[in-house]
Amino acid sequence: MAVVKSARFIISNTDIRKCPQDGKPEYAFIGRSNVGKSSLINMLTSQRKLAMTSSTPGKTLLINHFLVNEDWYLVDLPGYGYAKRSKSQNEQLQRIISSYILGREQMTLLFVLIDCRHSPQKIDLEFFRWLGENGIPFSIIFTKADKLTRSKLASNVAEYKQVLLEEWEELPPVFITSSDNGLGREDVLAYISEINATL
Ligand code: GTP
Ligand code: MG
Repeated sequence: MAVVKSARFIISNTDIRKCPQDGKPEYAFIGRSNVGKSSLINMLTSQRKLAMTSSTPGKTLLINHFLVNEDWYLVDLPGYGYAKRSKSQNEQLQRIISSYILGREQMTLLFVLIDCRHSPQKIDLEFFRWLGENGIPFSIIFTKADKLTRSKLASNVAEYKQVLLEEWEELPPVFITSSDNGLGREDVLAYISEINATL
C-alpha cells in the first residue's frame, strides 16, 4: 500500500527557475479552473488545508510545490479556461502553465483532471492534443465522482474514452476520484509509487 507519511508546502512562484532544485520527481495537476486540482492534492495527502481551494474558479494562480515523504513533489498548477478572467491575466497564466509543463525537467507525469459530469469539452481536447504534440507524459483523472450515480459515472467515462480514442491510438492510465469521499486515492498513490520505483 502506498503511504503518505508526510506532506508539506515548500514554495509558490511563477518562475520555474525558482522551483526546487533538488531534482526530486514531480507529479503535477492541471485542468480547467474549479475542476478540483487543489482538493485532490489535499485528498491524496489527507490534509484538508494543504493546498488552497475555493468554490469560485481561479483560486490557484501560482506553481505550488508540496513535498511528500521528503522524497517527491505534488505540484498544484493554476487552472485554464476561466472565462471571467481578463485576457491579459489568462495569457499570463497560460505562460506560467506552459513554461512549467514544457520546461520542467523534473516533471515525471502530468495528471490532467476532467470533471466527470461534463461531456468532452473542446478546451480539454485541445489541451490533450497540445500535450501529445509536445510529447508530454500524462494520465487522466476524472474528478467529483461523488456527484454522479454509478451508472451515469460509468457511461460518462466510457463516452469520454470513446471520444479520445477517435484521435489517440491508445489511452494513458485513467483514474476516477472523489475528493469528498476519497475514491481513487489508493489507485493514484499506488501509480505514483510504481513510477517512483522505476526512477
Ligand atoms: P482553481 O485553483 O481555481 O483552478 O481550481 P481547482 O481545480 O484547484 O479546484 P478546487 O480544488 O479549488 O475545487 C473547486 C471546487 O470544487 C471547491 O468548491 C471544491 O470543494 C469542489 N470539489 C473539488 N473536488 C471535489 C469532489 O471530488 N467532489 C465534490 N463534491 N466537490 C469537489
Ligand atoms: Mg486550485
